[in-house]
Amino acid sequence: MGKNLKTKFIGKKIIEFKTINSTNTYLKEIGNIENEGTVVISEEQTGGRGRLGRRWVSSHGDGIYMSMLLKPKIKVEKSPFITIIAGASIVKALNDFGINAMIKWPNDIVINGKKICGILTELNSHMEKINYIVLGIGINIKKLDFEEDIKNMATSIYKEGYEISRKDLFNSILYEFENLYLDYIKYDEKNEVLNICRKYSAIINKKVYIVNNNKKELAFCIDINDNGNLLVKVNDNIIEISSTEVSIRGEDCYI
Ligand code: BTN
Repeated sequence: MGKNLKTKFIGKKIIEFKTINSTNTYLKEIGNIENEGTVVISEEQTGGRGRLGRRWVSSHGDGIYMSMLLKPKIKVEKSPFITIIAGASIVKALNDFGINAMIKWPNDIVINGKKICGILTELNSHMEKINYIVLGIGINIKKLDFEEDIKNMATSIYKEGYEISRKDLFNSILYEFENLYLDYIKYDEKNEVLNICRKYSAIINKKVYIVNNNKKELAFCIDINDNGNLLVKVNDNIIEISSTEVSIRGEDCYI
């Protein structure tokens, strides 16, 4: 990993493992001493973690399990947009390889309505100051068998009929991410990210369930606004939903 990488600083240092419990957990432990852009990647995770306390199945050689260390000098409240940038960079990289992937806002990537990639962003901050962010990305590349409880929701790039090299995809995601990330933290520029999210959205102009603390509400997705929040219509009221709050489910399927 790392050969032919065209980035300025993301992935200048790559720490590679054959196996580890979780790349996010490991990077959080060394976040204070490593430089921005350090990437940890493993061929397998024995305790891969997902959002909302869920697990992330990370079997050997079946995917990309990686985490990047970011140290942006921005206010804490501007950090959730970094997850949106990651989603945009992944969906762009995949589509540039001819893979018809879409974003299920805010941070899942789907192919044919099933999830192939999730993002887990973890923040370490003190008194409104960001010390560091660990941005974890899990992508199912080759996995063919999924456990009963996630079978209807999860798939892999290979299972959907596409082939891609793990290394090429890794390089391309880092490259796309760095460009969009630098535009955001230097110039507060979000337009390209938002355009990618709209172009490849799996939910805009669709009815979805918004799930929040066991409450489930059917809503029509209108757009993603300039803050990266989702605008939905519920019973004739237009509501803005922040990316940190909710899960989205399709009306009668995963999405
Ligand atoms: C989700 O969709 O719930 C997020 C999944 C994030 C999984 C990745 S794999 C690499 C990194 N290390 C972890 O333990 N989790 C993230």
